[in-house]
Amino acid sequence: MLKIACILIASIAEALAVSSTVGLHADYLAACNSTSRCQKQGMYCWEGVCQCPPNKAPIMLRGELRCREIVQIKRISTIEDHPWVISNASCLSSEKAVAKSSCRHSPCYSGILVDLLRSADEDGKFLDNCTITKVSSVGRFKSGAWTNNSIMDHLAGNKTDLGLAIFNEPTLLPHVRAAIHFESIFVGNYENKTALGIAVPKSFDKERAYELGDRLHQVQESGRAGEIFDKYFLQDGLTVWKKEKQLTTFKPRRVVYWL
Ligand SMILES: *[C@@H]1O[C@H](CO)[C@@H](O)[C@H](O)[C@H]1NC(C)=O
Ligand SMILES: *[C@@H]1O[C@H](CO)[C@@H](O)[C@H](O)[C@H]1NC(C)=O
Ligand SMILES: *[C@@H]1O[C@H](CO)[C@@H](O)[C@H](O)[C@H]1NC(C)=O
Ligand SMILES: *[C@@H]1O[C@H](CO)[C@@H](O)[C@H](O)[C@H]1NC(C)=O
Ligand SMILES: *[C@@H]1O[C@H](CO)[C@@H](O)[C@H](O)[C@H]1NC(C)=O
Ligand SMILES: *[C@@H]1O[C@H](CO)[C@@H](O)[C@H](O)[C@H]1NC(C)=O
Repeated sequence: MLKIACILIASIAEALAVSSTVGLHADYLAACNSTSRCQKQGMYCWEGVCQCPPNKAPIMLRGELRCREIVQIKRISTIEDHPWVISNASCLSSEKAVAKSSCRHSPCYSGILVDLLRSADEDGKFLDNCTITKVSSVGRFKSGAWTNNSIMDHLAGNKTDLGLAIFNEPTLLPHVRAAIHFESIFVGNYENKTALGIAVPKSFDKERAYELGDRLHQVQESGRAGEIFDKYFLQDGLTVWKKEKQLTTFKPRRVVYWL
């Protein structure tokens, strides 16, 4: 879990792409010919280079490269919420045989959260065989149940592994808190203590949720998150966003990095 122990505002120019950080690391992908050379970070020698075992993927944590378990996410539930999640209705209804429900490849989904997740997946490879489902709302708790076909309904009922939507973490209602774990705060307005997150069901193992959070944190720390925010004009705020449907009440005024 990303703790808000210290908050830094960094410029995009100062941030390093993680791929180059990983690439520069002395041991990772270095030539080897005996397992002993690679053992330091839990890497092993395979096909002549030091790399992570098949069920693990490299991650930079506090300046150190390690091999971390891959947390496979099989099911994602999301809603349309420009610019966080943008779905293309004509793509979803098209007859063309595209991988419409593939979390990793679907051309029908884009937006900040989708791009962040896919960027994290480039390092973490956790979206193998993952399918994405669009539901109708985030959901409300009423008379003991969540709105049908909502993100909360899916999270609380273990019908999904990840609810991809914007949640304003400090203002969560108790029923929401009881149903989910929060991971990864991406962008926020420090003065207003707004923190955004990705939600996983309570039934999802907590340690594994942390691992996923670290993957997403890496996207942020490497500066790649900033590139994605720029791509969607996040710092331009509402004037640009209003072009399309927008459900989110959060109003970012500038890009803030939480490190
Ligand atoms: C093993 O690798 C080292 C350094 O790359 C090289 O000097 C050495 O000749 C290699 N040994 C064998 C048996 O390939
Ligand atoms: C939406 O999908 C359709 C059909 O796949 C495609 O032609 C169109 O360019 C897409 N629109 C956007 C904005 O990506
Ligand atoms: C993904 O699906 C393919 C085909 O169904 C299967 O061979 C493969 O093992 C699956 N991968 C994972 C990680 O489940
Ligand atoms: C949700 O669906 C179930 C059955 O599909 C139905 O019994 C229930 O009344 C629905 N709940 C709401 C809140 O619409
Ligand atoms: C915090 O939110 C309030 C209400 O939306 C707004 O008036 C105020 O400008 C915000 N403060 C900052 C620092 O963004
Ligand atoms: C949640 O659903 C997944 C997939 O169906 C299943 O493997 C897992 O055991 C379920 N967890 C709980 C706590 O029910």
